[in-house]
Amino acid sequence: MDAFDPAAFADYLARQERKDLLRFLTCGSVDDGKSTLIGRLLYDTKLLFEDQLAALQKDSVKHGTVGEDIDFALLMDGLEAEREQGITIDVAYRFFATEKRKFIVADTPGHEQYTRNMATGASNADLAVILIDARKGVLTQTRRHSYIASLLGIKNVVLAINKIDLVGYSEAVFETILADYHSVARELAFTSIQPIPLSARFGDNVTQRGDNLSWYRGPTLLEHIETVEVRGSESERAMRFPVQWVNRPNLDFRGYSGTLASGIVSVGETLVVASSGRTSTVKSIVTFDGEKPRAVAGEAVTITLADEIDISRGDLLCDADQRPEVADQFSAHLIWMHDEPLIPGRNYLFKIGCKTVSGSVTEIKYKVDVNSFQRLAAKEVALNEVSVANISFREPIAFDAYAGNPATGGFIVIDRLTNLTVGAGMIDFALRRASNIHWQAVDLDKQRRGEAMGQRPAAIWFTGLSGAGKSTVANLVEKRLFAMGKHTYLLDGDNVRHGLNRDLGFTEADRVENIRRVAETARLFVDAGVIVLCSFISPFRSERLLARELLEPGEFIEVFVDTPLHVAEKRDPKGLYKKAREGRIKNFTGIDSPYEPPERPEISLAGGMAAPEDLANQVIDYLRTHGYV
Ligand code: ADX
Repeated sequence: MDAFDPAAFADYLARQERKDLLRFLTCGSVDDGKSTLIGRLLYDTKLLFEDQLAALQKDSVKHGTVGEDIDFALLMDGLEAEREQGITIDVAYRFFATEKRKFIVADTPGHEQYTRNMATGASNADLAVILIDARKGVLTQTRRHSYIASLLGIKNVVLAINKIDLVGYSEAVFETILADYHSVARELAFTSIQPIPLSARFGDNVTQRGDNLSWYRGPTLLEHIETVEVRGSESERAMRFPVQWVNRPNLDFRGYSGTLASGIVSVGETLVVASSGRTSTVKSIVTFDGEKPRAVAGEAVTITLADEIDISRGDLLCDADQRPEVADQFSAHLIWMHDEPLIPGRNYLFKIGCKTVSGSVTEIKYKVDVNSFQRLAAKEVALNEVSVANISFREPIAFDAYAGNPATGGFIVIDRLTNLTVGAGMIDFALRRASNIHWQAVDLDKQRRGEAMGQRPAAIWFTGLSGAGKSTVANLVEKRLFAMGKHTYLLDGDNVRHGLNRDLGFTEADRVENIRRVAETARLFVDAGVIVLCSFISPFRSERLLARELLEPGEFIEVFVDTPLHVAEKRDPKGLYKKAREGRIKNFTGIDSPYEPPERPEISLAGGMAAPEDLANQVIDYLRTHGYV
């Protein structure tokens, strides 16, 4: 047995590091022979891999399992972010290498290949292997896989026409399928399509040729993926560096740490902070191995600049000659990944690079049927559906169109309450109109208006079931405030639904929109210096959070009118519970539509227990002790 030679081992690892990496995705079902194909590819190339290792001590091969180590390291950075979001994704990543290249193959197992899983696997893939069963030809799922691959920006496709042995290695069948596929691909944005007839089972054209396909002149699958040029790789794009954290160990050092998302950065180069437009030059680039003159996409570095300029976490440092755009409204493609549908107007968090902003979808322009590529009208978007929508962020962000740079044009959508990743998106372009409208600054502000009225403006937001007593208590509170000479207004669900919101019903989407409009209205009242009382079931936490965040801290007072369902139902002032129980009213809160109680309301009123006057007193006491009146 050869002795273990650490130097040879280090040399081996270094050679592995220098080889370039191709990430690819396999699309197809078990029936198409996907597992067999991947199995064969791994099996045949693993032999190569182990041959190289033979010179090393056997034990180290067994325990070190170099392939898996590298695999692990490479994969972790990509997956960690998703894990943090708590998303469960059925994607298996496998690593293998040949003399020429390293590979990571993303495989979404299972019969049913969900859009979500595929999108996750495809999100940083350079190439997609689309499997077709030669007996079946181009199927609906072939169209779906191709659409998602194209949507995620994959430019290179291998059309693996498998089970060619089962059609007698027929060139005519191959040609027919190819022609069919070209009519699908015509609608998509691929730049290269390499068709390969193969038999995963017998190995023809996987890593070796085989005599049965002598009519085929092209490469084997392995030859192709070893040599294919994937253009537009991250290092060729404009330099983008999202600042993950500001590294300031002492007063003498201030560096910006993160992973270079795209391009190359060199010492002496001029960079711009995208959001402020301030520029400076790169003083040094620090890595784990010390200082370097330059770094390329994918490297984790700390950059120091020649000037002290204001930069914080989430900022984007860019090549000053190739600046990104800055905007707060966009048109984007969205892939929805959650059981609960995407609802326009609902507030979500959007994470783009290292920056997280709140925002909402303002309009769903259409859904795309991923099987037929047809555009469909839609009010909501469900799990695994793709849509094109307008999106509005609370503040401007720096970005590039996804087509030009996936690293700075892609984002994920996060539910504000559960912190789960619920969608992924790709920015197509900014909506210009957004940047032309500015909040008109007026000389009088709400503080001065409020002072003139002897009050601190605020929104008192009553939430609770229908029949909980919200309007009764709100009414009493308003009368008391009025008697004290305060300027108030009461917005009430039933009343607002006669005017401003008469077009809205009680579906989840309509309730979201109802509360969004009311929240905006409440904000205007607060701006007018008024104490506005809002009485709405407002069953969803996320919209109450939206209302809260439209106002400044202290301006939103959430009052939970906590009346148990059985009490409200017994009262049934409008006879609606009875109708709901009889099925004559649909989506009735508490019966067949949910109510999410507040977690930390400013005031909680025991609705069934005390007289309305006592409950109103509790609210007035709160306003007094907290200096509102
Ligand atoms: S919210 O859910 O969108 O906040 P809102 O407070 O505006 O509701 O309106 C609730 C009032 O509408 C109820 O008090 C009740 O009188 C009436 N209503 C009619 N249909 C329904 C329904 N399906 N669910 C709840 N309330 C309903």
